Amino acid sequence: MKIAIGSDHGGYFLKEVIKEYLAEKGYEVEDFGCFSQESVDYPDYAKKVAEAVSKGECDAGVLMCGTGIGISIAANKVKGIRAALCHDGLTARLAKQHNNANIICMGGRTTGIETAKDIVDNWLNSEFEGGRHLRRINKIKDME
Ligand code: RB5
Repeated sequence: MKIAIGSDHGGYFLKEVIKEYLAEKGYEVEDFGCFSQESVDYPDYAKKVAEAVSKGECDAGVLMCGTGIGISIAANKVKGIRAALCHDGLTARLAKQHNNANIICMGGRTTGIETAKDIVDNWLNSEFEGGRHLRRINKIKDME
């Protein structure tokens, strides 16, 4: 499984930690930047990661900015993307089970490292439940 990862400067530190964590777990990780703590614009990195997932070049994506808010708003503008801002293991698990989120977003200034690890673990180890949730996702697709 290939995971696209990206952040702005506010999420840079957490991105580096989670990139390493995912690689240790055996995932192939492609880093779309940013590559330092120098100030950048989060929509640029949301676009790179979201397009890689939308085109099928990567199977899933992880995005971080300061709060996770801006980068999730931006990623959701790309067709086929369901980017979920997650705060803990429960929201991450439900983001997969109910929303089939193909990108998860976190806040580098609001989410601790252990919580972030718990978020990616819950999301990657859960399955989409389909059924009524598929019907709802199809209604989102109809809006695109
Ligand atoms: C950048 O300072 C900050 O606004 C950004 O990382 C993010 O939190 C926006 O939603």
